[in-house]
Amino acid sequence: METVTYSLYLSTNPKIYYLEKIIRKEMMNISVFRRNRHALESAFLFITISFFLNQSLCGYSLSAQKVETLRVGAARIALRVNKIYEELGYIITKNQLGATIIHDKKRNRNLDTGGGFHGTDLMLFLAIRDIFPARSIFIIGNAFGYSTFCLAEVFGEAKVDVIDAEIEGEDNKVGSNLTRKIAERYYPSVRLTIGFSPEDTPRAVRKEVIDTGGYELIFIDGLHTNDQIYKDFNGISPYLAPKCIVVIHDVGLANLQSGFRAIRERANQIRFNLFISRLIWTHFGTGLLARGFPPLQFEPYFRGITD
Ligand SMILES: C[S@@+](CC[C@H](N)C(=O)[O-])C[C@H]1O[C@@H](n2cnc3c(N)ncnc32)[C@H](O)[C@@H]1O
Repeated sequence: METVTYSLYLSTNPKIYYLEKIIRKEMMNISVFRRNRHALESAFLFITISFFLNQSLCGYSLSAQKVETLRVGAARIALRVNKIYEELGYIITKNQLGATIIHDKKRNRNLDTGGGFHGTDLMLFLAIRDIFPARSIFIIGNAFGYSTFCLAEVFGEAKVDVIDAEIEGEDNKVGSNLTRKIAERYYPSVRLTIGFSPEDTPRAVRKEVIDTGGYELIFIDGLHTNDQIYKDFNGISPYLAPKCIVVIHDVGLANLQSGFRAIRERANQIRFNLFISRLIWTHFGTGLLARGFPPLQFEPYFRGITD
């Protein structure tokens, strides 16, 4: 009886009736929300994961595409340069380490001279050209001219000066003569000076370049000792443009990390702000330092180790 009366009372008291209705509705809303919460969470996770996956896959495919472009570009340049040597009776080939060497077809033997430039170095210079088409280049270490002509090809408009002491192998002189012959016929912007870095560097630099702001790109590939790369860097540093890149070959292969550290200390004082002692994707652990660039401009193809 009491229950019936209470029920009647509930149904006739509008305040309680509506309060109950509201509570019931809220309870229903809560349970709908509970039911949908899992769906919402899943949707959120799906969107987040898709976003990050998309970002990383796009980044990956973009860089894979870029690497492929660099690889094809490097192969094209190598073909052109190799063809020139071939016309003059030499074959450009590789030793077991993957270093570029030169074969004399007439004498059927390899020339006894330095070498080592690798396809990944060529890719590096192509990547540099994309962000910085240098107009003046100074190279330390010529051997038979291979890196010199590859750089002349990559940076078509650039003046290229190179110094070589002719101290590596009994055919180093043959390499110099061949360089002069090729430069005369195909690359008039290349000039070779025989001499020692750093002592003869002032004689090897081009006045015209110095008068117009200095060298924008340097390739150090002479004697591979810590002491010498430091001297090479110091010898050329008065002739550098305010915005420039210095590439140092074989830092990894020849264990030149401590030389690189010494260069870094010195270069910090002359406003260099980017240092990579070994670019991880170069075959022989090529290093580079630069000034005048915002650091991010070098990403992502300039990732490497700095130690
Ligand atoms: C590794 S080879 C250069 C290879 C060349 N860059 C290439 O990749 O085709 C090193 C050259 O540096 C030269 N060299 C060694 N010490 C030098 C110095 N102090 N100044 C100038 N050249 C030097 C040697 O005579 C040798 O020809």
